[in-house]
Amino acid sequence: MQKFDFTNKVAIVTGGGGGIGRAASLTLSENGAKVVVVDLSEDAGMLTVNQIKEKNGEAIFVKADVMKEEDIKGYVQKTIDTYGKIDIFINNAGWEGKVLPLVDYPTEVFDNLMAINVRGVFLGMKHVLPHMIKQKSGAIVNTASGAGLLATPNMVAYGASKHAVLGMTKTAGVEAAPYGVRVNAVCPGVVNTQMMRSIESGYGKGDKEAAEASRKQLEASTPDGRYAEPQEIANLMMYLSSDLASHITGQELVIDGGAILI
Ligand SMILES: NC(=O)c1ccc[n+]([C@@H]2O[C@H](COP(=O)([O-])OP(=O)(O)OC[C@H]3O[C@@H](n4cnc5c(N)ncnc54)[C@H](O)[C@@H]3O)[C@@H](O)[C@H]2O)c1
Repeated sequence: MQKFDFTNKVAIVTGGGGGIGRAASLTLSENGAKVVVVDLSEDAGMLTVNQIKEKNGEAIFVKADVMKEEDIKGYVQKTIDTYGKIDIFINNAGWEGKVLPLVDYPTEVFDNLMAINVRGVFLGMKHVLPHMIKQKSGAIVNTASGAGLLATPNMVAYGASKHAVLGMTKTAGVEAAPYGVRVNAVCPGVVNTQMMRSIESGYGKGDKEAAEASRKQLEASTPDGRYAEPQEIANLMMYLSSDLASHITGQELVIDGGAILI
């Protein structure tokens, strides 16, 4: 059943080859949007595009490294050249970095993570917003994290980056509001994607059983006792992208089964 009406809407999803980005891309398409899937991984991004096409949806893939401003300009321009506008921007590509105490955290990893999770999100908004402002409509959803609201022991760069995403979301939300453009952020807890497999492995220091134990511990620390599925995050992204959220901007919406409350 169709839940949202994105007919004639054009959406960009960065990290569209990953767990959350793929769920968002497929759901946007199922609800009528044309989708520009952006990812560093061509295989992962093309898989998303092919899944959309199998269901008779419309999508293209643009390979881009969000660390590079030229690549960001490239996916924006490709979207305009192909579909003429941008209505929805799911600014979602991200990297977990390393699982290490702050004192051992490699500076180079810190810098690279900031370039993806902060600069990439900033540049995405910088280059998408002018199109939305000009057309006086549009919705941006930045993927932050519960890590943007809490301490993240052993993941200092990731936590700092997601705090920054929330700061940028507030500023962009206020600046864009007079033009009828909304900017919000989602703050997922733990989500069942490749990123969590990598984090579990980091906590387990590469040992499989220890990684599995860290997963069980993370599940147990969530009041509803489980990870989110990517689709659940995509559902919130759909709401924020839709006119049902027409008076919500500059906000951070937590979606974590209540984990942040305990
Ligand atoms: N999985 C979780 O528990 C969780 C929780 C909170 C927030 N998040 C956030 O959700 C977003 C999506 O993560 P996911 O869980 O789907 O992880 P994922 O690893 O499945 O997907 C991330 C995607 O981003 C892409 N990507 C990474 N670096 C890139 C770059 N430089 N340029 C372009 N694309 C790049 C990857 O190729 C991958 O397809 C991220 O911003 C992440 O921080 C995830």
